[in-house]
Amino acid sequence: MDNPQKPLKEYTQANRLAWNQAMPHHQKANGSKWDDAFSKPGFIAITGVELEQLKSLSVSGKNVAHLCCNNGVELMSLKNMGAGRCVGFDISDAAIEEASARASKFAISCEFTQSDVYDIPEQYNDAFDIVYVSIGCFGWLPDLKQFSRKAASLLGDCGVIFIHEQHPFTEMLPTDDIEDADPLKIIEPYFRPEPYEESDGIDYVGNTTYESKTNYWFVWTLSDIFMGLIESGMRIAHFSEYPADISTIHRRNQEAGVKIPLSYILIAERP
Ligand SMILES: C[S@@+](CC[C@H](N)C(=O)[O-])C[C@H]1O[C@@H](n2cnc3c(N)ncnc32)[C@H](O)[C@@H]1O
Repeated sequence: MDNPQKPLKEYTQANRLAWNQAMPHHQKANGSKWDDAFSKPGFIAITGVELEQLKSLSVSGKNVAHLCCNNGVELMSLKNMGAGRCVGFDISDAAIEEASARASKFAISCEFTQSDVYDIPEQYNDAFDIVYVSIGCFGWLPDLKQFSRKAASLLGDCGVIFIHEQHPFTEMLPTDDIEDADPLKIIEPYFRPEPYEESDGIDYVGNTTYESKTNYWFVWTLSDIFMGLIESGMRIAHFSEYPADISTIHRRNQEAGVKIPLSYILIAERP
């Protein structure tokens, strides 16, 4: 799974263009939702088990890097929870533009930087206590081992990587748009070395479809995720699985009457 068929950059640059194209669709669907939310001082967009687990890390005063930060609402929430230096990285210029504009509008002190995660400059090495990854990041990445090494390199001593992600089990099940499929029937492989190549849009916010730039989605197994971290020198400190769909495209699986793993939280520590 570490040798995608095209050079890594071809995948990540294609995904960059696709995300730049997707952001106006998300912004249209969200309307003033996030501006209204952050106009209330101290607003926190993070909820439920993720919020509980983050509280167990005592975010207050900690420096946080958010990888694949999109429009920055989670990182701004961590800042509102008392985090120290907060830096968000995302490959999409449009996502970084939205995040920076909102942080500045509400004077929430977060830095947002346009960067492929694989290219985050060395100046950020050892600079963070928490590397934060939340919902829908891993699938866009062509090389998880390289990602894990990069994430680990950003941490100072005793730093942690916090991951709240869509469970790899979901990759085998039909997404909600395949309406006539049995939501509990396995229709895709768990082991899939080549990425899915898609071009029907990534508007999971407004649920519109449009002819989009070609983008690539990679399937990672639990062993890929664990071994990437372990081989980067990290120690798995926590792993919990949940029957909640956090992707918003697996609602039918969640409501099928049988509890199956749809999301997870993983915390890895730098010893
Ligand atoms: C689903 S969003 C992320 C999460 C956010 N929590 C959300 O729910 O909207 C995925 C983000 O990953 C970013 N991304 C994809 N590939 C990337 C890469 N190679 N480096 C940095 N960011 C990347 C995309 O631009 C997009 O903003």
